[in-house]
Amino acid sequence: MTIDETIPLVLGGPPIQGEVPTDGPLRDGFGRLIKNLRISVTDRCNFRCTYCMPEEGLDWLKREDILSYEEIDRLARIFVSIGVEELRLTGGEPLVRRDLPVLIEKLSPIKGLKSLSLTTNGFSLKQMCADLVAAGLQRINVSMDTPVREKFAHITRRDALPQVLEGLEECEKYPELSPIKVNAVAIRDFSEDDVLAFAELARRKPYIIRWIEFMPLDAEEKWDRTDVLTGAEIRAIIESKYPLEPVSDDRIATAQRFRFVDGTGEVGFINPVSEPFCETCDRVRLTADGQFRTCLFSRWETDLREPLRSGASDAEVEHVIRAAVWRKEMKHHINDPGFQPASRSMSQIGG
Ligand code: GTP
Ligand code: 5AD
Ligand code: SF4
Repeated sequence: MTIDETIPLVLGGPPIQGEVPTDGPLRDGFGRLIKNLRISVTDRCNFRCTYCMPEEGLDWLKREDILSYEEIDRLARIFVSIGVEELRLTGGEPLVRRDLPVLIEKLSPIKGLKSLSLTTNGFSLKQMCADLVAAGLQRINVSMDTPVREKFAHITRRDALPQVLEGLEECEKYPELSPIKVNAVAIRDFSEDDVLAFAELARRKPYIIRWIEFMPLDAEEKWDRTDVLTGAEIRAIIESKYPLEPVSDDRIATAQRFRFVDGTGEVGFINPVSEPFCETCDRVRLTADGQFRTCLFSRWETDLREPLRSGASDAEVEHVIRAAVWRKEMKHHINDPGFQPASRSMSQIGG
């Protein structure tokens, strides 16, 4: 079969320019190698963060539209066979999907996979951590936007800070699970007061605290540029008390890493708005309903569920993936006039 016969399966998106590679490591039309696949296992969440979802939730996907663990496993194996090295499970909140360790058990032995990680809000971690680690989870990122209980209840609309902190402590019991990262979304006039407290947490605990600039991905489209508290501003607050120095790192990553000069602890800054890192992007995403997205801010998707369920061979699915990746967006346009939001909100994409 030639790639041309597969193209009709690729839905939406820009026309294909040039020739889509049929072999070699997965790469896009700008020469970027794709090594990192984020897999959303559910669009549901037990929190209602104000910068992400409305209080009443969203219209959840129907059960039959969500990929089964067998389907996810098949796709993951195809991705890894053509160059993906890192898999990250996301949601919604991934731990609300039943039996998540069963999926991790399927994915962890995949040959060629270098990293299997999870991004979670941490609410159910205390109960689930042992099973996740036993199934083969290697790394974990826990979202926690503030270490102050009242502020936490306000921003997540759930009074759940104690459970998240207990979940993090549970992670510390498993040396196999390393590093432990904490993600905090930085919001102007909300986060400033937490910066030193988080710095102290990073010094006291084996957690890498990472500040993420607020992006226009909220379902209610309330984002405003003035809400963005930049990584540079946060760094200045930290350095007013605790000097930092950069940690050199050859890996392609979202975060710029810094350590405290006295050697105790690490913090990171994910600055997609003030310092976009699209040029080195190696990430693609699979939604819970099997739609393949080549950028967080994609306005088009490629349906992988349909070929899976209509009996396509692995080679056919691989061609569809290669054709979609070839057209990966050059960059996000948050800073350009006429910016148009992504076709789904953060919780439906998986971060
Ligand atoms: P590590 O492998 O631990 O560095 O993970 P990560 O930073 O890729 O994953 P995590 O789920 O912790 O992501 C943190 C946040 O970084 C995401 O929720 C997004 O807000 C942001 N982020 C991750 N990938 C991208 C990306 O490709 N583009 C942009 N603009 N932001 C991203
Ligand atoms: N901007 C930046 N980060 C966001 N997250 C959710 N919504 C946004 C947004 N609009 C973060 C979560 C979590 C990660 C998956 O994405 O807090 O840490
Ligand atoms: Fe990659 Fe798109 Fe994120 Fe830029 S915005 S880093 S291209 S996913």
